[in-house]
Amino acid sequence: MPNPSFAIAILAAGKGTRLKSKLPKVLHQIAGRPLLGHVVRAASNIVAPADIFCIIGHEAERVRAELSPLGTQFIEQQEQRGTGHALMQCRQALAKYDHVLVLSGDVPLIRPETIAAVRDFHIANSASMTILTAEPADPFGYGRIVRRIVNGVSTDHVDSIVEQKQLTPAQEEIGEINSGIYAFNVADLFARIDQLSTDNPHGEFYLTQIAAILQHDGKPVLALRTPHASEVLGVNTRRELAQLDSILRERKTRDLMDNGVTIFKPESVIIDAGVTIGPDTIIEPFVQLLGETTIGEDCLIRSYSVLTNMQIGNGVRINQGTIADDSTVEQAAIIGPYSRLRLGSEIGPEAHVGNFVETKKTKLARGAKANHLTYLGDAEIGEHTNIGAGTITCNYDGVNKHKTVIGASAFIGSDTTLVAPVRIGSGAYIGAASCITRDVPDDSLGLTRPELLIKEGWAIGKRAKLQAAKLKK
Ligand code: UD1
Ligand code: CA
Repeated sequence: MPNPSFAIAILAAGKGTRLKSKLPKVLHQIAGRPLLGHVVRAASNIVAPADIFCIIGHEAERVRAELSPLGTQFIEQQEQRGTGHALMQCRQALAKYDHVLVLSGDVPLIRPETIAAVRDFHIANSASMTILTAEPADPFGYGRIVRRIVNGVSTDHVDSIVEQKQLTPAQEEIGEINSGIYAFNVADLFARIDQLSTDNPHGEFYLTQIAAILQHDGKPVLALRTPHASEVLGVNTRRELAQLDSILRERKTRDLMDNGVTIFKPESVIIDAGVTIGPDTIIEPFVQLLGETTIGEDCLIRSYSVLTNMQIGNGVRINQGTIADDSTVEQAAIIGPYSRLRLGSEIGPEAHVGNFVETKKTKLARGAKANHLTYLGDAEIGEHTNIGAGTITCNYDGVNKHKTVIGASAFIGSDTTLVAPVRIGSGAYIGAASCITRDVPDDSLGLTRPELLIKEGWAIGKRAKLQAAKLKK
């Protein structure tokens, strides 16, 4: 028999009223990614993106726009009439599959291993419906699992799922919850999905009701309880959002440490899910590594640095308080303390960018240095060139941006202003405090400097005048 085919459906059409937000619930972020993004990534480990169906509705276009790079399919649920109604919209799309795994857009911590366990259990037991269950510390708010008791012993079979508002006092004692993650035999599901009623406190079609319908028809409805209860926590409130963000980041730092990264005070660092770090890199306390940042091996990232979407090579040192976005830093470069690398900076191997230096769309070639108090925008700086303290590229004329190009092994004296567009040749010298408005050829000196005036003894007379004026008052 060929392997049974699986699709994954992700319920993501709801508004998320309890978040009190303009943003649809599944676009709220934890660990730097939307809730739905986490679920889609986990699902993509199990089936191809083309076999993943996100059911969207509230602010559908916004959700679709944000998630479309992940390559999944989308199905619209025009009106949000409940989780069962959401799945009804998938009847056609799912007809060609044997089974469907159903995930929830607001249950983001689910790991691929656990989804695979649901799939394997479902197949091994020839179930019609498999429900992933858990026993969290506080089951309040979740649907509860009513297991079938045979001869006083509870079995894997589920008689029904009962939502919080419909629990009898005795059922309130049940600690086993419905995670909202299921596997279904597609034919069995859609043969009965129209039997769902809206006979409940919200007047919605609850998918959970299908458990009782299937088991009533003698179809096997089984529970698989995960020991990892924290994986199936849902996000319905801002407090839960913060709680799940913490869990995910803790999981991230643990994974990194297990793979050879040193993280001191891991509870103080903030590392997004999309970050990768090579072994023997050291992360000091209170560092933030955000977005899709990648860091090589043997780096040192010192405290209070905030790196967003950065590509960092091996052996790089990022000193304290560096703020860097959307840029690259190559092998053995040294950045900071207090550097600001903005969009499109390319810092070459062994280059140095020091304190209070800002770069934007600027390339520093190998070994180039800009160590103090400098702005380099739209600039290209050759190998081993030294940029003196207080150098400014005047790249903006009020309307357009212009380029500054500096060759290799040049020396730019302190407090130079380079009025772009301008080129400084290789090996050229620029005298301190010059304002450079024309190109300077290779190996030349560029210097603008008013003559130095010295009047000996002048200050004595000046002070006497000032003193006399003060006494008159
Ligand atoms: C649901 C389950 C509950 C389970 C819990 C686990 C039902 C009736 N209840 O409750 O047993 O313990 O999840 O987290 O299923 N959605 C749609 N379309 C809709 C309504 C909801 O796509 O019309 C989506 C939501 O966007 C969300 C998911 O379905 O991602 C779950 O909906 P939600 O309203 O959060 O259900 P819960 O009350 O959490
Ligand atoms: Ca929920």
